[in-house]
Amino acid sequence: MRVSEFVSHSSEETIAKGREIAAGLHPPVMVMLSGELGSGKTTLTKGIISGLGAAPEEDVTSPTFTLVHVFHNHCKVYHVDLYRVENFQDLESLGLEDALGEEAVVIIEWSERFSYRTDWPRVEIRLEHAGGDSRRIAISGLSLENRL
Ligand SMILES: Nc1ncnc2c1ncn2[C@@H]1O[C@H](COP(=O)(O)OP(=O)(O)OP(=O)(O)O)[C@@H](O)[C@H]1O
Ligand SMILES: [Mg+2]
Repeated sequence: MRVSEFVSHSSEETIAKGREIAAGLHPPVMVMLSGELGSGKTTLTKGIISGLGAAPEEDVTSPTFTLVHVFHNHCKVYHVDLYRVENFQDLESLGLEDALGEEAVVIIEWSERFSYRTDWPRVEIRLEHAGGDSRRIAISGLSLENRL
């Protein structure tokens, strides 16, 4: 599997990268985001969701309290934050099975806490602080192979 690495120097650049990623996403697909607090997962998601035409970037905010945001415009997009999910029971309470039965783009922050088995195509994106406003973004996954 190919891994593509990129360094972003600003949130604008990260959003632009998200838009670029969106162009290669075809539902059903899961976008698994990992990386520590403030590494830019939600910022990248703004670019992905606006790039998909599902919502303007200012409408994409962190699903910190409700844990799942759903956008349905052009294509169906779930934006999930698993930071507060501590076990399988917590995960089940989010009702993500519904999302997994649809032709959707499912974007998951703190994706290492996602423990369902699915055969959905996945794009894995790891973000890391790289000093100041720089972020290292590593992307791998089947559905992007044709274009990276
Ligand atoms: N190059 C960059 N890419 C992304 N965000 C950046 C960058 N430089 C600075 N920032 C800032 O870093 C913060 C990233 O926050 P964001 O909510 O996207 O992170 P997160 O990974 O979703 O965090 P959390 O784990 O809390 O959900 C924002 O305040 C953003 O403006
Ligand atoms: Mg976030």
